[in-house]
Amino acid sequence: MILAAICLSDLQTPHILGGSMIVAIDGPAASGKSTVAKTLATRIGMHYLDTGAMYRSVALEALARGISLDDESAMGELARSVRIDFAYEGDAAIATTVMLNGRDVSADIRTPRIDDAVSVAARNKAVRSAMVKRQREIASTSDTVMEGRDIGTVVFPDADVKVFLTASADERARRRHVELSERGVETAADRVREGLVNRDHADSSRETAPLRPAEDAIQLDTTGMTIHDVVAAIAALVDDAR
Ligand code: DC
Repeated sequence: MILAAICLSDLQTPHILGGSMIVAIDGPAASGKSTVAKTLATRIGMHYLDTGAMYRSVALEALARGISLDDESAMGELARSVRIDFAYEGDAAIATTVMLNGRDVSADIRTPRIDDAVSVAARNKAVRSAMVKRQREIASTSDTVMEGRDIGTVVFPDADVKVFLTASADERARRRHVELSERGVETAADRVREGLVNRDHADSSRETAPLRPAEDAIQLDTTGMTIHDVVAAIAALVDDAR
């Protein structure tokens, strides 16, 4: 009996147990995941979950409390104790607000300071296990398009659709620079590119749940593609899976 309980909680995801439909979208920073996943979720009528926002929230709270990002046990404890929620407005599929312990941190988690800190927080095993638990919990209640780095490999290895998006480093840096400027965050373009490349390296080379495509993921290079084309391609995969 105990063995069955351990197997279920450790290995089986809510999806495998017959829950919601999951569309996993993984890829490096600024590969187009967020825009594509949000547009897709709206188009096919699913919820959207930004798992990067959760790691960002943990990093933000660690900096606010003066906890060293390298302190494995304190960071693990912090990740288990924070409450992260996504607030939906009305019937909207897209959660516009990220809540950390009841406080709106949507803007605070998207600064260059958090960009630099988040990879260190995200490589911590205990932090990851707390976030994965919460991600499965949130997705168990509705069909969800989830974007991240390890959705298809770790969080939902049996996801109905798995996509891995890529784009050249130059194109990704360009997109991120435009996005930051639109939000009024002024940073030098080459500093943005350097930050992205460093983060990719940290995310891909970490020991726990490194950034990599699942073996059965469909890989799409979005460099020359429009958002519309990428969304249409994934929507077709979802149709086939339904
Ligand atoms: O998608 P993003 O740039 O907001 O992600 C922020 C960081 O969080 C990124 O450096 C990697 C990490 N992350 C992760 O390790 N696993 C996820 N599922 C999502 C994000």
